[in-house]
Amino acid sequence: MAEADKQTVGIIGLGYVGLPTAIGFHDAGFEVWGVDISERTVSMVRAGENPTGDPDVDDIVPAPGAPRWNITTSTAEAVPHCDVVLVTVPTPVTHDLKPDLTYVEAAGRAVFESLPGGTNTVVVLESTVYPGVTAETWLPLLDELGLVQGVDVTIAYCPERFNPGDPAHGVRSVARVIGCSDEQVGASLVALYSQLTSEDVRYVGRLEVAEAAKVIENVQRDLNIALVNELARIFPALGVDVEDVLSAAATKWNFHRYTPGVGVGGHCIPVDPYYMIQRAANVGVPANLITAARGVNRSMPIHVAGVIRDLLFEAEVPAKDARVLLMGWSYKAEVGDPRETPAEPLAEALLEKGVKVGVWDPHLDEPLLDGVTVHRVLGDADGYDLVVLVTAHRACLEADWASLHQRMRTPMVYDGRRVLDLDALTSDGWKTYAVGRP
Ligand SMILES: NC(=O)c1ccc[n+]([C@@H]2O[C@H](COP(=O)([O-])OP(=O)(O)OC[C@H]3O[C@@H](n4cnc5c(N)ncnc54)[C@H](O)[C@@H]3O)[C@@H](O)[C@H]2O)c1
Repeated sequence: MAEADKQTVGIIGLGYVGLPTAIGFHDAGFEVWGVDISERTVSMVRAGENPTGDPDVDDIVPAPGAPRWNITTSTAEAVPHCDVVLVTVPTPVTHDLKPDLTYVEAAGRAVFESLPGGTNTVVVLESTVYPGVTAETWLPLLDELGLVQGVDVTIAYCPERFNPGDPAHGVRSVARVIGCSDEQVGASLVALYSQLTSEDVRYVGRLEVAEAAKVIENVQRDLNIALVNELARIFPALGVDVEDVLSAAATKWNFHRYTPGVGVGGHCIPVDPYYMIQRAANVGVPANLITAARGVNRSMPIHVAGVIRDLLFEAEVPAKDARVLLMGWSYKAEVGDPRETPAEPLAEALLEKGVKVGVWDPHLDEPLLDGVTVHRVLGDADGYDLVVLVTAHRACLEADWASLHQRMRTPMVYDGRRVLDLDALTSDGWKTYAVGRP
């Protein structure tokens, strides 16, 4: 392997993870080959545009013709130029919640088929997977293609941990862990990634250790969020606001505070626990706690839909005549990413009850779900009975609530993220409700 500062880096998959990673290596002075199978993505990136919904990537895609910046749909064209190839393709779950590794396999196959041979090119999987996937998916492909580890190729795993929409935890400022059966290659990858990020980069030994570390980070978040979501159901039944309880508990030095909400979304937290559950099942060990936490978070949008139906009933708005406006659709604040958003099951549950549903999300303007009315500007939304704050986008918090109040048929608001100043809204004439509040 060439010295870290002279290497050419390939990135397979230019999505939320791959594109900022490619830009990060380019900014660090590397020759970069970026590959995506999507013609739209490649033509946008080539034009210097941002095809992802992450606003942090706006204005930083290298301009057309930038030196050391090569973007293509062809893995076969890119890979022979590269010393190291990073694979950042999706790892979703199937409709029956099983890990879908088809992208990892297809991208790996395309890379391995493109290797010139004898170059010991390092191929690093960055996608989130359960322990064992890199070896179990890729080693049979090497055998099938007659490639020898240490001669033609070495495989490694380095999970991406950055947080889209959060500039403080971008690709250039997160710690990395590297798993590889070859310690020397592990050390060379530490040198490489140390030029990408200012944070700690560590070789942790076996592939499986790095794979497991990533997946349990997200399992832990799912568990912690599930706990506060469960508490947000219990305490209102006791006449107590869960946020008051959390504020009181957080005065203790070792209490970790999380905020309840309408549900967990995105490509990671609602997905990765299923990878761990599946892996545990494969080896005959029950993952009861992880499974239960998933169940709580997965059911939150349905629970909230039920609460909203009750609120409408109490306000004497029959469900069949009711109109609910969702403020925000993407799964997290400041990002235009609708994947696994809890807004979708919430809207579906309301539609099933006969409620008419509208949505305003300043970060998204495409049609979101059949039957949902999309408002491109909030000023177009009128005649609603209840607003649900689904995503804590700054634009939602700073919206013209006074003007919206005037256009409501029944001015009720449900804070699904516990971020609104409910006292101020109450003084302005809103009837206010919130997740976890009696
Ligand atoms: N988005 C996040 O916040 C985040 C954070 C950390 C880790 N991850 C993990 O990183 C991985 C990628 O996630 P993402 O959010 O970037 O996904 P994404 O869907 O935004 O991007 C993946 C890209 O890969 C492309 N692609 C698919 N197959 C390909 C192939 N064979 N060759 C070339 N390109 C191909 C797709 O067209 C797409 O543009 C997932 O495993 C995810 O769990 C995501």
